Amino acid sequence: MDYSILIIKSSGWIFLLLSVMAFFAQAGDKVVIAHRAASGYLMEHNLPSVTLAVAMGSDYIEQDLVMTKDDQVIVLHDPTLERVTNVADIFPGRARRDGKFYALDFTLAEIKQLHLKEPYPNSGRFPDYNKNLTLSVPTFKEELELIRGLEKTLGRDVGIYPEIKQPWFHRKEGKDISMAVLRILRDYGYTAKEDKIFLQCFDPDELKRIHDELLPTLQMELKLIQLIDDNSGHETKVLQWGEWVSYNYDWVSSKSGLRTLSAYIAGIGLDKSMLVDQAGNLLRPELVSDAHSLGLVVHPYTFRREKESLPPYVASFEDLLEFFYFQVGVDGLFTDHCGDAVHFLQNRPPAPAAAAAVETAVEGEGSTMETLPARPAVDPVLPLLPAAPQAPALVPPEVSPVDAPSTPLIPAEPSQAPSLDPVPASNPRIMPIPGPVPVTEPVMPLVPSTGGIREQG
Ligand code: G3P
Ligand code: CA
Repeated sequence: MDYSILIIKSSGWIFLLLSVMAFFAQAGDKVVIAHRAASGYLMEHNLPSVTLAVAMGSDYIEQDLVMTKDDQVIVLHDPTLERVTNVADIFPGRARRDGKFYALDFTLAEIKQLHLKEPYPNSGRFPDYNKNLTLSVPTFKEELELIRGLEKTLGRDVGIYPEIKQPWFHRKEGKDISMAVLRILRDYGYTAKEDKIFLQCFDPDELKRIHDELLPTLQMELKLIQLIDDNSGHETKVLQWGEWVSYNYDWVSSKSGLRTLSAYIAGIGLDKSMLVDQAGNLLRPELVSDAHSLGLVVHPYTFRREKESLPPYVASFEDLLEFFYFQVGVDGLFTDHCGDAVHFLQNRPPAPAAAAAVETAVEGEGSTMETLPARPAVDPVLPLLPAAPQAPALVPPEVSPVDAPSTPLIPAEPSQAPSLDPVPASNPRIMPIPGPVPVTEPVMPLVPSTGGIREQG
């Protein structure tokens, strides 16, 4: 008997099996995080935008959270209101000395008088507010109630991905935003590791506090995501010798740092430019593999389909998604265009390598794997869905006011205005498939800023 043929045939089938397993693992496990809800289609952070993101099949809906003067938690990306509302028109004279209108200086009732506006109306996004359409800043409770309701009527879980914004700034202003957020989450039934929620924060010390102190106090366990900023950022500041300075994240993304964090976090989130440079070279291939070896997911941000937002090494949004999901190997990503990303994953053909391997392995067997679905179809649109047979657990919400001292008017510290950081879109080329480019130490490339739609994050 020719054993070599047997071995080759057996290994072919083993390879086939592994290829199929890898294929399904790759396709099925990737998640779409709706960045600031369906912000690429219907403004950021408002209830219709959340509904749209859910209807489009997003796996997770992101909420950026800040607090009001009267201790309410609202869904707003910046601690200030002027970028996305008409606050300057409605409350002139209420800005601080830096010219910004801080949510912490307004009651919820006042904030509810404001209208949201599209920050990028000239970039093909939703038209700016002006006449009859009035969208308002939602509270966190409103948004959770909407999502829980849709879970019931759609019959499927909808993930949430809340971010506690700048706890250092809130603390400086006398607010414990983390405790306020956790109490609301508990009230809406998010209490266990299995619940479909990732709780994210840029502040490593605060995330540790949440894990070590707050969650045990509230008898909760949640999946935590450590966000990683560059070292010049405003997201996290620490008081050093009487001065607020940017947090140094170098240790966080080191192998030993990740190992330390892996004791209590579920994953990391970081700007995609920290993983891939503008030429399409992998900056730190070991970061993704290190994270995965420690059981951590990697969720970079932010992916946008507008031409001026595409890095020069891809020709289309779909190329960018293909590159990050299946070559960089991330587990999910934050995108303004959640519907396009869901569509991409649902309709992605088999990965060329996997498909070729499968075809080779089954050659002569009269079968190909070309019809394998890339991702199980997600409920397409709202009205077509049957009512859920079973509702998710919903604990009746209770108001849990945060005990916070009155808010002194301290000269504003953070500057959270969007910094536009477009990328030159010249010389696009498709998928350079770079080999690992070793980089000595954390590289935080700064993208030149010349206009466009790419604000930080
Ligand atoms: O939270 C991760 C992602 O949203 C990027 O950050 O600035 O948009 O909140 P940002
Ligand atoms: Ca965020």
